[in-house]
Amino acid sequence: MSISLFSLEKKTVVITGACGLIGKALCKGVSDAGARVAVCDIDYENAVKIADDLNNNSFAVKVDVTDRDSLSKAKDYIIYKTSSIEGLVNCAAVNDTFKKNESKLEQSKFENFSIDVWEESIKVNLTGTFLSCQTFGEVMAKCKKGSIINIASTYGIVAPDQSLYRNEEGKQIFYKSPSYPTTKGGIISFTRYLAAYWGKFGIRVNTLSPGGVYDKQEEFFVKKYSEKTMLGRMSQPEEYCGAVIFLISDASSYMTGANLIIDGGWTAW
Ligand SMILES: NC(=O)c1ccc[n+]([C@@H]2O[C@H](COP(=O)([O-])OP(=O)(O)OC[C@H]3O[C@@H](n4cnc5c(N)ncnc54)[C@H](O)[C@@H]3O)[C@@H](O)[C@H]2O)c1
Repeated sequence: MSISLFSLEKKTVVITGACGLIGKALCKGVSDAGARVAVCDIDYENAVKIADDLNNNSFAVKVDVTDRDSLSKAKDYIIYKTSSIEGLVNCAAVNDTFKKNESKLEQSKFENFSIDVWEESIKVNLTGTFLSCQTFGEVMAKCKKGSIINIASTYGIVAPDQSLYRNEEGKQIFYKSPSYPTTKGGIISFTRYLAAYWGKFGIRVNTLSPGGVYDKQEEFFVKKYSEKTMLGRMSQPEEYCGAVIFLISDASSYMTGANLIIDGGWTAW
């Protein structure tokens, strides 16, 4: 076995949500491993900046994953630029936010939870992943090769522990939403469906379930979160690059339908 098994040279990899905390790190990791990256995000201005810093003639593409036409145009542009797609990483997502002026605590209670926030989450996280797989996966199905990675979360596997969102004085700041974990659980099931459906077409489909990334959250949260992991800390975005390179590359050629959990041990005890 040689390290070249992990090489992404001569592969085009589409990354959606590429301007996000994890997406941006994956763009760099995947391009450093040899791939040409289609840096796809609804935030085109930022996508251009990110693509400019990457290797292998990587390029930016404006895409709204909830919009079939936008995805279709993006696919045509990517095929015009590169003629093939070997990897797809579905990172685009929303983590529920509240627009009303009322307190976040009140709005986040399940009894009050807004159907609009619920539907937005389903639309971007779940339907967006479905549409992206349909659009870019079609290219892979025609070529009978490709690797798709759908990003879920530990919250797709276990329920949120609401005590994490209680400060040092024991005051509940907000409740983690019901919609985000529901979409992430759905992604794990959808991935298995697609892996079974496209296996004979030579397309591998796997889930990657990350744990929480450190992003200057409040001190009480970081402390409580860290204590729930076996490694005693939150993750850095770059810590998911190795797994994504592995899942796209030939090193994982017999792996499909799996859920690779990288969470510092959170779900293992
Ligand atoms: N950050 C974490 O702690 C964490 C933990 C577990 C799982 N995840 C998952 O990892 C993935 C990446 O997370 P992140 O922290 O980088 O998220 P992020 O919020 O930092 O970035 C999300 C990106 O998606 C883009 N986006 C949103 N709606 C879009 C749309 N309709 N079309 C195209 N792009 C759109 C945004 O512009 C943004 O660049 C997500 O699926 C998230 O649920 C994150």
